[in-house]
Amino acid sequence: MSNFNQDGQREQWGSKVGFILAAAGSAVGLGNLWKFPYMAGKNGGGAFVLVYFIILFLVGFTLMLAEITLGRYTQLNAIGAYRKISKKLSWVGALGVLAGFIILSYYSVVGGWVINYIVKSFTGALNVADAEALGGMFGDLISGTVEPIVYHAAFMLLTMIIVLGGIGGGIERSSKILMPGLFIMIVIIAVRAVTLPGAIEGIKYLLVPDFQTIIKNPGIILDALGQVFFSLSLGMGCMVTYGSYLSKDTNIPESATAIPLIDTGVALLAGLIVLPAVFAFGYEPSAGPGLLFITLPAVFAQMPLGSLFSILFFFLVLFAALSSSISLLEVCVSYVVDEWKMKRKTAVFVIGFAMFCIGIIASLSFGQLSHIKIIGDRNFFDSLDFVASNILLPLGGLLLCIVVGWVWGTDKAVKEASNNGQLEFKLASSWSFLVKWVGPIAISIVFARSFIIPLI
Ligand code: PFF
Ligand code: NA
Repeated sequence: MSNFNQDGQREQWGSKVGFILAAAGSAVGLGNLWKFPYMAGKNGGGAFVLVYFIILFLVGFTLMLAEITLGRYTQLNAIGAYRKISKKLSWVGALGVLAGFIILSYYSVVGGWVINYIVKSFTGALNVADAEALGGMFGDLISGTVEPIVYHAAFMLLTMIIVLGGIGGGIERSSKILMPGLFIMIVIIAVRAVTLPGAIEGIKYLLVPDFQTIIKNPGIILDALGQVFFSLSLGMGCMVTYGSYLSKDTNIPESATAIPLIDTGVALLAGLIVLPAVFAFGYEPSAGPGLLFITLPAVFAQMPLGSLFSILFFFLVLFAALSSSISLLEVCVSYVVDEWKMKRKTAVFVIGFAMFCIGIIASLSFGQLSHIKIIGDRNFFDSLDFVASNILLPLGGLLLCIVVGWVWGTDKAVKEASNNGQLEFKLASSWSFLVKWVGPIAISIVFARSFIIPLI
């Protein structure tokens, strides 16, 4: 796949809805369904959700618009876009590529778990209502040696095959059916989850903030910051890349509002499935990365046609994961193709294989290598996630604010975002203020609070 069609024009999304769905496809993924509920569970529920919302409103929408606008203006990949703004800035794009590389390495391990759960749904292995048995089954899977690596390989291969074949038609077209399908399914499942006996505790846990938790544990703020970036696919040039395929008449402010809203809606719905189930079945909200895989089958067991729901749901989770993983791989591939002049096919194989190898260590860090702690008491898997989500993505966002707000300049950016003043961009001046001041200061404060103050 090249980025140009036969007439030498840059490829474009087929329609406005097509772009929103593809970008929402990148945003909506394991970050919403798997990571958001367990991060919320680990960080005091409502406290985490409150901080998440504050950061979403101050930084999330702002950076979504900044990335898409930068992409459409430059019509280039992440590195090229920064270089077009200033020759000295390509390293900012390269930092994003590094983040994408790290994220997909462990994302694919979780994608493998999802494939395994599709298989388990078919064989009826999940058809047990016993909470403890479900927890044990998940523990056995991830702490295994060969099995999770085989499934991780399968997920990585699927991602590579799609990226090899080109993103255009396939992903855009299938997103139009599958994303709404996913949405309807999780609404139905959420209704069942919140009506379970005892579910009210979980709803309260998710939605009622306890301010003491935030004050006592400032790590929540860094986790929430990282989660906003991770979930919205921000801070690594992914939305720059997707924006680069936009036509000049798209309404960017509208898209940049819709995508975060869709993403947040799906995350909250996932939280409304997982946390009520945690309380209804007597699990621990802080159980960690397995939360989704343990609680969901327990909910299905309480539903009519549960096995059917289980199969359908894990398929949709897989699809959501793939529409995100391809965007992660694409950012890395397009860099190597453009900058190192590598063939696209070679790039996909070399990068995919390198990610697979790192993912092996991430997978083993739940089993054979679980005694090895890298950052604090985090195993290798959690350390990769910490470095990428909590350091590299917010750092990328901080640099993006500086580049768009100060180097390129908000006047030029607003001109691009409003299609040369042809469409109304009501919040242009608030947005400019947020990019130039609020974004950089907010991110710097969270970094300072997390990395400098604790050391003193
Ligand atoms: N936003 C994706 C998710 O929530 O699963 C993960 C992701 C995709 C992060 C693409 C970053 C990215 F560039
Ligand atoms: Na997301």
